[in-house]
Amino acid sequence: MSGGAPAAAPLSMAVPKGRILAALAPLLARAGIDVAPLSADDRRLVRTTADGSVRFVFLKPDDVPTYVEYGAADVGVSGRDTLLERRHDLYTPVDLGIGRCRLVVAGKAGVIAPHVPRVATKYPRLAGEHFAARGIQAEIITVHGSVELAPLVGLADLVVDLVETGTTLRDNGLEVLETVLDVSSLFVANRAAYKLRASAISPLVQRLREAVAARPG
Ligand code: PRP
Repeated sequence: MSGGAPAAAPLSMAVPKGRILAALAPLLARAGIDVAPLSADDRRLVRTTADGSVRFVFLKPDDVPTYVEYGAADVGVSGRDTLLERRHDLYTPVDLGIGRCRLVVAGKAGVIAPHVPRVATKYPRLAGEHFAARGIQAEIITVHGSVELAPLVGLADLVVDLVETGTTLRDNGLEVLETVLDVSSLFVANRAAYKLRASAISPLVQRLREAVAARPG
């Protein structure tokens, strides 16, 4: 028999493939995590750090909270927009301050929307709540991308969509009418894992908070 305590299972971290990953990697590095596996040039969807402490699981951004909520990953990184739209039951101990953008109501520049507007969005719940809170009856139409197209071809009068630089709205002749939600990426944790793996997750949360606070700009 070999001596010593068995090595702990790696902490499983769901990370979003795509543009958030570029901002996330330096933040994780400052929190002391070996991020070399994040930049490996291959198609593996599961990658473990050299010391075996963290196992990264690569997912479409919208799928991260699903994996974490079901415990298929212990922790992860997800946008506030997705978490609120789907009402995921997760701990959200750190706002990472990356992936900043706004969920807005937008419409054709200079055009007044009808009394009961049709609204195209990837966020039917948040859009519905937004208009209901203002006493506006709106017909919400769910689409899955290229949302800005909807007013241009007569699908909808308004959109509720993310705006970052504003380029997509501008290039399609749309303007922001209202902000629904300020969005950024949050560090999320499975509720059971947060307790059962506290010895791994709590120090990581603390280091992430320090890394966020120390971030330039
Ligand atoms: C997002 C969002 C807007 C755009 C905003 O779309 O839905 O369309 O980015 O960015 P901007 O203000 O910097 O122009 P994404 O590129 O994710 O593609 P999608 O239209 O398929 O959702």
